[in-house]
Amino acid sequence: MNYIGSKLKLSSWIEEEVKKVVGDDLSEKVFCDLFAGTGIVGRTFKKDVKQVIANDLEYYSFVLNKNYIENHEEIEDKEKYIETLNSLPLLENGFIYQNYCLGSESGRQYFSDENGKKIDTMRVQIEEWYQAKEIGDDLYYFLLSSLIESADKVANTASVYGAFLKHLKKSASKELILKPAHFLKNENTHQVFNKDSNELIKEISGDILYLDPPYNQRQYSSNYHLLNTIAQYDDFTPKGKTGLREYNRSDYCKKNEVHKSFEELIKNAQFKYIFLSYNNEGLMSVDDVQNIMQKYGEYSLQTKEYQRFKADKTENRNHKADKTFEYLHILRK
Ligand SMILES: C[S@@+](CC[C@H](N)C(=O)[O-])C[C@H]1O[C@@H](n2cnc3c(N)ncnc32)[C@H](O)[C@@H]1O
Repeated sequence: MNYIGSKLKLSSWIEEEVKKVVGDDLSEKVFCDLFAGTGIVGRTFKKDVKQVIANDLEYYSFVLNKNYIENHEEIEDKEKYIETLNSLPLLENGFIYQNYCLGSESGRQYFSDENGKKIDTMRVQIEEWYQAKEIGDDLYYFLLSSLIESADKVANTASVYGAFLKHLKKSASKELILKPAHFLKNENTHQVFNKDSNELIKEISGDILYLDPPYNQRQYSSNYHLLNTIAQYDDFTPKGKTGLREYNRSDYCKKNEVHKSFEELIKNAQFKYIFLSYNNEGLMSVDDVQNIMQKYGEYSLQTKEYQRFKADKTENRNHKADKTFEYLHILRK
């Protein structure tokens, strides 16, 4: 998934840095990914550690992590369910079609009419199976994750769901095909939460805490509202031009709250090693972060420069503007 702040490209660097500090053998360690998003960092460590704890404030992320992190044993017939969902007759007037497609005269075009109907059809069927106890939690979250990711691929947006495009773009006019969200199988059991980081931190403990909070004022809950709507599939009245639902406002996106919340989090963390990813353009400066963290133990910093967007070779752009720094702040508590 194309997710703001995704660590897909940085996950092996993060893994290397963690191993440099904690050691190569993590097999007895509990690793917590407290702001898990797509779950890619927890997924990277799932093969190495005794347990992954993954958490995020957003429900779509909870669903993804229930599948990618918590699911760890083979699920019988899962491909058969994917096939069935791909070949169902289309439901005509579901919630997504009614509110987020042009054909229903909603005035919104987040999906093509056909794909909107497909999302409704699949989402309703998954819920029916679950309510009838034909499928358990493992298959439920596997199918929901597959739907969230497959729907996201055909969304008619520039990148996030803060706005839709006026005309259907090429990828959005392609038919939605449900693709399986494959998870890693292993022997260990893992835990997934859907809580505010600063509440959950008081209830858990472990060895390695990985923190990747938002670093600017863009709230994930409004930028990805449609993923929550597909995941929750509840009844509400969509608001305004973009069909927004009620959304969470994270303290980490508020200039006046972030320092206090971050310090509380570090203070309350019952983990020996803490790693924080933070961007050089974030609400807290590098010095702010250092000043807070070093109060609670031995502090160090690793930096990596990386390419944010691919440079357009046809334009004579200043390539430097396409580079950004990622910081990994490290604390031994
Ligand atoms: C930078 S993203 C994490 C990206 C993730 N590491 C990845 O690679 O996909 C920040 C995440 O923090 C979550 N978030 C924001 N405020 C939160 C809070 N107070 N508690 C828990 N999660 C929060 C957002 O929903 C978002 O998924």
